[in-house]
Amino acid sequence: GLHPTTLPFIAESAYGTIMARNAALLVLLFALAGSAMGFQLGRASLPSLRGSRAAQCPAKSSLRMQARPDGDDTPPSGGALDRRSFGFSSAFALSSLIFTPTAPTWAADNALIPADLPKTYKALYCDRVVSDPDFRKAVQIKEVPMRLPEPDEVIVKVCYAGIILGNEEMRVMGIGKNEDLKNMTEGFRTGSEGLGVIVALGQEAADQGFGIGDNVAWASRNGSFAEYNNVRWGYLQKVAKLQPEALAVRISGAVSYSMLTRRLRADEDMTILITAAAGGFGHMAVQWAKKVCGSRVIAVVGSPEKAKFVKRLGADVVIDSSREKDLSAAIRRAAPKGLDGVIDTVGGEYINAGMANLREGSLEKKTQGGKFVSVGFSSQYPHNPKALREVPTAFNAEELFWAGGSQVNDKFQSIYSSFIPVPLAVAARKEAFELWEEGKVRPVITKTYKGLGSVADAIEDQINRKTMGKVVVEIQRP
Ligand SMILES: NC(=O)c1ccc[n+]([C@@H]2O[C@H](COP(=O)([O-])OP(=O)(O)OC[C@H]3O[C@@H](n4cnc5c(N)ncnc54)[C@H](OP(=O)(O)O)[C@@H]3O)[C@@H](O)[C@H]2O)c1
Repeated sequence: GLHPTTLPFIAESAYGTIMARNAALLVLLFALAGSAMGFQLGRASLPSLRGSRAAQCPAKSSLRMQARPDGDDTPPSGGALDRRSFGFSSAFALSSLIFTPTAPTWAADNALIPADLPKTYKALYCDRVVSDPDFRKAVQIKEVPMRLPEPDEVIVKVCYAGIILGNEEMRVMGIGKNEDLKNMTEGFRTGSEGLGVIVALGQEAADQGFGIGDNVAWASRNGSFAEYNNVRWGYLQKVAKLQPEALAVRISGAVSYSMLTRRLRADEDMTILITAAAGGFGHMAVQWAKKVCGSRVIAVVGSPEKAKFVKRLGADVVIDSSREKDLSAAIRRAAPKGLDGVIDTVGGEYINAGMANLREGSLEKKTQGGKFVSVGFSSQYPHNPKALREVPTAFNAEELFWAGGSQVNDKFQSIYSSFIPVPLAVAARKEAFELWEEGKVRPVITKTYKGLGSVADAIEDQINRKTMGKVVVEIQRP
């Protein structure tokens, strides 16, 4: 007899075969019987999607069983297909097979799942969280099943993936907000940002104006080191062309822009210190601060080559830390009146040097001190296990990073995390993209790594401080 778990495969093969239609007739009888027994509609919110999704749903149930443990942070908005919805959707699937002259490939409206969507694809997969921060040892390339989109998701073909220092090592180690991955016994996928083309999408994403063929940049926790990825529409940013530079804007550019404009409210009267200024985040921060806010920019970098690079981007003063014994003294020489703001991604001694030079406020004069924005703490990440013990810092960057929020100390200096409310962050991201498209800033990619197999090389080069600008891997040609 026909067991429900075998039905998906029959329906899946129905992408155009007569065989499936015959099977379909049989299953329709089952499904209608199910409905007649009083089963109810499981997903009431997808009116115009039904035609296509229903045709896909049986396949979805089979894929979902294997695909859900992929580390996707998207809560299942429809739930896995159960017998009730299975009966209903089968009825739809099969009636559409029977009453249309050819098997459906595209829906009539925006609920688009093309028939030629691959059923599996390659992804950089981590089987379980590890205690060693070596990303290369933690992951392998795996063939994973395609998961059809939830209503609020699109499926993107990933052309480029970006790398943010620390994200991947903390992810494979289950650190901080990745703690939940420790329970993922089936493993999870890696990669936090990407650029590519929409190839399929759910109804809600379509209602938001997204469509097949749109070029998009996205941030997501669930696996951009892969040939395809499911991403919620809220994380997408449409872009005119598939230029990998968009990846420098999507997270690093947008966050640095929001910190300068919303947190520091940087303007032409202010002196701002930016650490790791030649990096993916830093080189965008330098340009916003100088070219958009008009501030005086002091940039800290770790080599003469990086110094030249940030000078070209417009930094007023460049401190090469590889040539300075005392970072704090070097900053004092560059800003004798004190800093109005600091954007720091390095942590450790950089925190102390920045805080020591931050302008102090005064209760009598009713003045606020300078503002320190802690966006990351690269020198304290797990690839440097000694780091946390090396220097006691003026505040705990790690705690602030994961918890968010802000503090004011006894010198009326403010210390901020990178967290800002989502609507502000979204507005800042849109502005950042507009400014980039107007040519106000120039994101830089100095080297593009090629293929999923090169992701670990890129991560290692970044950790070893060898990279400048945004680190990008070309996953596949558009
Ligand atoms: N909160 C957010 O939303 C957000 C968004 C994006 C990035 N970030 C954070 O920003 C930081 C920078 O990210 P990124 O992707 O742009 O990286 P990156 O700046 O391209 O690379 C990190 C740079 O940090 C400096 N560095 C100093 N000490 C280091 C150490 N011990 N290990 C490694 N690097 C060290 C190096 O520059 P020098 O050689 O010039 O010193 C290195 O090139 C990371 O901490 C990341 O987590 C946060």
